[in-house]
Amino acid sequence: MSLPKPRPGILDLKPYIATHGSSKHAKVIKLSANEGALGPSPKALEAYRSVAENLHRYPEGGSANLARAIARKHGIDEARVICGNGSDELIEVIIKAFAGHGDEVVYTEYGFRMFPITTLAHSATPVMAPEKDFTVDLDAILAKVTDKTRIVFLANPNNPTGTYKTAEAVKAFHAKLPSDVVLVLDAAYAEFVSKNDYSAGIELVEQAQNVIMLRTFSKLYALAGLRLGWCYGSPYLIDILNRVRGPFNVNLAAQAAGVAALEDTAFLEKARSHNEKVMPWTVAELEKLGLKVTPTVTNFVLVEFPHEASKNADAALAHLAERGILVREMRSYNLPHHLRFSVGTEDEMQQVIAALKELLT
Ligand SMILES: Cc1ncc(COP(=O)(O)O)c(C=O)c1O
Repeated sequence: MSLPKPRPGILDLKPYIATHGSSKHAKVIKLSANEGALGPSPKALEAYRSVAENLHRYPEGGSANLARAIARKHGIDEARVICGNGSDELIEVIIKAFAGHGDEVVYTEYGFRMFPITTLAHSATPVMAPEKDFTVDLDAILAKVTDKTRIVFLANPNNPTGTYKTAEAVKAFHAKLPSDVVLVLDAAYAEFVSKNDYSAGIELVEQAQNVIMLRTFSKLYALAGLRLGWCYGSPYLIDILNRVRGPFNVNLAAQAAGVAALEDTAFLEKARSHNEKVMPWTVAELEKLGLKVTPTVTNFVLVEFPHEASKNADAALAHLAERGILVREMRSYNLPHHLRFSVGTEDEMQQVIAALKELLT
């Protein structure tokens, strides 16, 4: 008996594994998905609740109000913004539009896992470019570009490393990339970066026909549960993506909460300064414990553990989980000695450090 066969690539795909809380603990400290430490803006919550009466209505198909609010905030053209059900959906829309069987999609060694996963789901071939010192190597990406390359994904800053490339380096890299290759600058963590030489990519999108910048409401805006992201591209690319995306791809509640979240600048400043205070404290405490920390410009940090069995990353993961603290293991990135921690509240981070102290000292 023969069974239905999926398209090429699907059976090579290892699904994305998300971490969830175990029921054993009444309160789980979840630091495994780089979510907002302080919860969402109260104004976004209010807007979310306010749409309950209208759930029998379809949402506005093109998320026009939200695109307008995004454009106003960033000083960009609203007609060139597309909103999505998380930036995950937009990653998929981009791949669906530009790559299929026989095409190549380049991503980096420690790039976001959904790049190769979604590439395989569309029967295209993911091509991995190695990184150097946990930092994207732009020359290594160029070396992987062939006449089959359709898309290059560059997460900047990168997840799970937390490192970044400067605006100047990205611009020089783009100049060397063939003009028929789509360059996707995934700036999911842009709002946390305080470096003067960094750019999320708006200027490059405005100068080039083949660049798309991706953003999300899941991180600083702390609306991961609603699923909301957006992208900005040239009129040429935006027209193509709009043909592929679903007609009602962003739900009513996400559109309403997104607009309110954008306007709540006091909350955004609070979330940013929380990270600016708690991240350096966390890094310093981890280093005091003798752990090797990759320098980060984001709200998460990649940490290398000793290799001896009683203190290694597996032992730390289990020790923390025992106490209801969830962090991200890194085996899917071939980093068995590393764990990734996102920044939580001050109290949560104190509990993390206290638990690691117990294990390591
Ligand atoms: C680099 C990067 N891009 C995209 C995403 C997906 O974000 P969203 O929640 O908007 O789908 C993440 C989430 O962790 C990420 O780290």
